Amino acid sequence: MAELLRKPHVMHKARNELVEIIGTKQSVKESDVDRLPYLQAVVKETLRLHPAAPLLLPYKAQNEVEVCGFTIPKDSKVFVNGWAIGRDERYWEDPFSFLPERFLGSKLDFRGQDFEYIPFGAGRRICTGLPLAVRMVHLMLASLIHSFNWKLPIGTNPHDIDMTEQFGVTLKKAIPVHAIPVVEE
Ligand code: HEM
Repeated sequence: MAELLRKPHVMHKARNELVEIIGTKQSVKESDVDRLPYLQAVVKETLRLHPAAPLLLPYKAQNEVEVCGFTIPKDSKVFVNGWAIGRDERYWEDPFSFLPERFLGSKLDFRGQDFEYIPFGAGRRICTGLPLAVRMVHLMLASLIHSFNWKLPIGTNPHDIDMTEQFGVTLKKAIPVHAIPVVEE
């Protein structure tokens, strides 16, 4: 929501898609999400820049292993910085910009096959909640932007939204976003 409020043209595009596909008379259903490619791209781009679990889970090397020329000694604790991978300019063009379009027409997915994009992790310990999370995040975001026209408080400029992150096991926005839902008749 913060990224969409900062980028009114992205909010507008996501909202237009919802109105075009669903209309204004009915609410969004889980089964509609497949027909909302732009909404899906917005969620993917959000998880790239703001992954909920930035360092995934801690791993322990059961045996000494060689990875890309580095020796990981037995019993080392290993953290995979998924947050940094999502912003690495070797894999992402204009990595710090919020550009959902980069995912349109791309096969890149968060199911653990594309190692430059691992917001749910990868391998045996990939997030077990992925199917539920994916359904819920799309449905919640779609419902919020389909049901309301979101405005910033008077005097707040979209560029003023503070995007500072609070690091931890999960990544949070340090300062909550303040937006006002407006119902359009
Ligand atoms: C957008 C939402 C979510 C994101 C981005 C997310 C992300 C992650 C990540 C990165 C991991 C670590 C994977 C790894 O180390 O390779 C993880 C693990 C896990 N997640 Fe999620 N998660 C989300 C929602 C959920 C939900 C809704 C549930 C449960 C209903 C859930 C349950 C779990 C569990 C149980 C693990 C540990 C899996 C294991 O170690 O075998 N997650 N998640």
